[in-house]
Amino acid sequence: MKFSILTLFPKVIYSYIEESIIKKAIDEKKIEVEVVDIRDFTNLKHNQVDDYQYGGGKGMVLMPEPVVAAIESVKTANSFTILTSPQGKTWNQKQARQFANDYDHLIIVCGHYEGFDRRILDYVDMEISIGDYVLTGGELASLVMVDSITRVVPDVIQTESHLNESFENNLLDYDVYTKPVEWRGKKVPEVLLSGHHKNIDEFREKSSLENTLTKRPDLIDENKLSDYQKKLLKE
Ligand code: ADE
Repeated sequence: MKFSILTLFPKVIYSYIEESIIKKAIDEKKIEVEVVDIRDFTNLKHNQVDDYQYGGGKGMVLMPEPVVAAIESVKTANSFTILTSPQGKTWNQKQARQFANDYDHLIIVCGHYEGFDRRILDYVDMEISIGDYVLTGGELASLVMVDSITRVVPDVIQTESHLNESFENNLLDYDVYTKPVEWRGKKVPEVLLSGHHKNIDEFREKSSLENTLTKRPDLIDENKLSDYQKKLLKE
C-alpha cells in the first residue's frame, strides 16, 4: 500500500511518522509514504496557494491549480483520491479495513484554512471526515487514516490482535491485565491466571459485551444477543 499525502505542512506528517509504528511498516516495506508539498505546485509569488473567497467573507481558501497539479503529479491508473474535510463521510474501522484491502495507492489531500475551492472536488474520489468537529487542517485527519489503515495491512500487526480488538464485530475490546498480579490491593481476575482456555475465552467475551453495553450501547442491539451471550451476562 502506498500513501501520497499532499499537504502545506510536510513537517507535521514527517514528525509523526518518524516516531510511530508506521516507521517500522515503512522500513519493512509493508507500506510506502510519500509526502508532497502543495506549495511546490504554485507559480505565484511567495509560494501563494490560497486567496480570499469571492463574494466576501473571512478566511483563506485553497486555490484549485496547486492542489490539482499536486494530485496529478502522483496519480496513476490505480490511485484513489481522498480529501480530508469536516463535510466528508465519517471514518471508521470498517472503512480502514476496506481501504487496506481495496486500494494499492491512496492520495490524501489535506484540506486547510477556511476551506478549498469547490472545483477541487471534481478531482477527488471521496471526502472523509474523522469526526463531527472542525480541525485547523487536514494533517491530523490524514495521519488518522494512514495509521488506522496501516494497522490492518497484512503482517503489520499480529493478526490475532485484530480479531479481538475494539470495533471488530461491533464490540469493544475486553479488559486486559499485566504484572503485577496484585497492585494497590487490586487483583488480576483469577480466571486469567488459571490456564483454563475455555474459561478465559468466556471471561473475555463477557468483558467485551459488558464494556460495549456500558460504554458504547449504541454499537449493540440487546435484543439481538445470542442465548449464549445473554447467559454470560447473567453469570
Ligand atoms: N478538516 C477539518 N476538520 C476535519 C475533520 N473533522 N475531518 C477531516 N478533515 C478535517
